[in-house]
Amino acid sequence: MAVERTLILLKPDALQRGLCGEVLSRLEKRGLQIAGLKMIQLDKAKCDEHYAHLVSKPFYPKLAAFMTSAPVVALVAEGVDAVNVLRAMCGPTNARTALPGTIRGDYSLSTQYNIIHASDSLETAHKEVARFFKKEELHAWKRAMDAFTAADDEKK
Ligand code: TYD
Repeated sequence: MAVERTLILLKPDALQRGLCGEVLSRLEKRGLQIAGLKMIQLDKAKCDEHYAHLVSKPFYPKLAAFMTSAPVVALVAEGVDAVNVLRAMCGPTNARTALPGTIRGDYSLSTQYNIIHASDSLETAHKEVARFFKKEELHAWKRAMDAFTAADDEKK
């Protein structure tokens, strides 16, 4: 299994409901590493590009209005098999069918207001990470097991 990077968006409903910290915390506690993190106000063009597979759907105008209604928190999560791990943590699109323990299953009852986006394949992840992050905004860092603990203190 390879280390992968995947794009996560904490959608405007996560910001409005004050859930960004909790969701981010779940990712960190799971062991995923943050490679990039920032706040973005999506405009219609960026939203159309991101949801190109949905622009012709009847629900798209409402989705675009929602996604551009407030900023999103964009992050790149890194870890072994990160794309599949994050999709599983999110749960299915319609949050009413999402199991408890998933992010959508714990925080949403909606299809549109479902808190979080996660890339749906490794190929999509490559495109989506590049869509939202410049190379210099992504950071490779090593998790040191004893960093900032008493064991690390002893070394100094
Ligand atoms: P999609 O890419 O199908 O799902 P996912 O986010 O799980 O990868 O859809 C993108 C978003 O579009 C979805 O998170 C919420 C919204 N959406 C609706 O508002 N109504 C719908 O019927 C569908 C399928 C999606």
